[in-house]
Amino acid sequence: MPTDILKALGLGQTNSGTYLGRGEWSTTTDAGLLQSVNPTTNEVIAEVHASSQADYETIVARAQEAFKIWRTTPAPRRGEAIRLCGDALRKHKDALGSLVALEMGKSKPEGDGEVQEMIDIADFAVGQSRMLYGYTMHSERPGHRMYEQYQPLGLVGIISAFNFPVAVWAWNSFLAGICGDICIWKPSNKTPLTAIASMKICNEALKAGGFPDIFFLINDAGVELAQHFVDDKRIPLISFTGSTQVGRTVGERVARRMGRSLLELGGNNAIILDESADLKLAVPGIVFGAVGTAGQRCTTTRRLLVHESIYDNVLATLVKAYKQVEGKIGDPTDPANLMGPLNSQGAVQQFLASIEKAKASGGTVETGGTAIDRAGNFVLPAIVTGLKNSDEVVQHETFAPILYVMKFKTLEEAIDMQNGVPQGLSSSIFTQNLKSAELFLSAAGSDCGIANVNIGTSGAEIGGAFGGEKETGGGRESGSDAWKVYMRRQTNTINYSDALPLAQGIKFDF
Ligand code: UN1
Repeated sequence: MPTDILKALGLGQTNSGTYLGRGEWSTTTDAGLLQSVNPTTNEVIAEVHASSQADYETIVARAQEAFKIWRTTPAPRRGEAIRLCGDALRKHKDALGSLVALEMGKSKPEGDGEVQEMIDIADFAVGQSRMLYGYTMHSERPGHRMYEQYQPLGLVGIISAFNFPVAVWAWNSFLAGICGDICIWKPSNKTPLTAIASMKICNEALKAGGFPDIFFLINDAGVELAQHFVDDKRIPLISFTGSTQVGRTVGERVARRMGRSLLELGGNNAIILDESADLKLAVPGIVFGAVGTAGQRCTTTRRLLVHESIYDNVLATLVKAYKQVEGKIGDPTDPANLMGPLNSQGAVQQFLASIEKAKASGGTVETGGTAIDRAGNFVLPAIVTGLKNSDEVVQHETFAPILYVMKFKTLEEAIDMQNGVPQGLSSSIFTQNLKSAELFLSAAGSDCGIANVNIGTSGAEIGGAFGGEKETGGGRESGSDAWKVYMRRQTNTINYSDALPLAQGIKFDF
């Protein structure tokens, strides 16, 4: 029941969307009201008061104050704060996973999986807090030493999307937290409840552990406050996840004030199946990639490139698998269902418009492609054939379960097709041929930020750096050395000699 889930997480029918720090939630009621709508029924789950400009100013002032304490707190101690957040999330995993399913519309196992990503990145960040390594260098001058160090950056702005309403915040804020930064989060206005719940869980854990406020929350009923946030010189880094269209504006605005941006934008991810592909692995990988989260992951499989020799068999097998999925579309909070609704009516309209466009371009809808006649935003996932990779509808990311299946003759041709889109997030090949796998991973292979062999395009682990090239925006977050974006880098040279030799052998005698 929705109310039980809300209650378990300390949420009511009306909530403040602004965490001001010091345990205070704003009492502002005149800055607009957000409605959290259940995509399964289109009924309002609860309401959230948006943040005022005055709330925002209070938050920035308190965040700046907190930064002064946090930046000099030893990094492993900062890691301890994030460890407490991870522990608290472990305790609330079931309830928060259910709220993600309820508010966003992804299946309950995927909602729980998203909370698991938060826990995993917390663990990762705790370890990383003892490994904020810089290089040491050998100076060209006698009696000199050089090294570099990473210092906290300051205030980090996080703008996240509805499709991963909590994990993306955790990827950013837990790493930024161990790096000594203070985070201000503006979640999607479609998923404010999961954001409020995450803040409550983590901030209560931080408070109980005696830590200062490192996480703040704002919600915007329109776009004005968010634009002000993006333009604010006091926020050295804006991490934005969302569409390429909005991300381009965010990137331009942040660049204009010489800020740093981390952009995680659209994908148009392809799987290649060569002649040798093991279909026992490939078929579930494709179906999960294309249908999972109702096609609303940035890593969703949108294109399938199949060697002509196996094309007919693969298509028939996939259509059969899609028919099985159709029997498991429904309320996402019921763990028996594999696919929930799209997040909004607008998304259903975009799905239907792309199907129409695909047909008008000469495509054939092999299965699905219609809205389901019931309450909520349910659609039948579609497989479309007969289009060219260069067709406009194929080049465009429709955030819905539409899979374009195309044929190829040679692997070089398939790699060209895979790379022949404006986006560059995730890619994969199913092959048992070592040469094909290595070519795909070589400099002449996939141009994406993520390239996989014998697994699909979606469901990346947190340990790797996550992000993509071209119109995906170039940002990297989560694992590997993605922490570096949350710090400022400083090169230090120390002279312990009695002379002052200049570099490059320059003489400057006076
Ligand atoms: C997103 O869709 O914004 O790789 C993130 C995946 C998930 C993250 C997706 N771990 O599909």
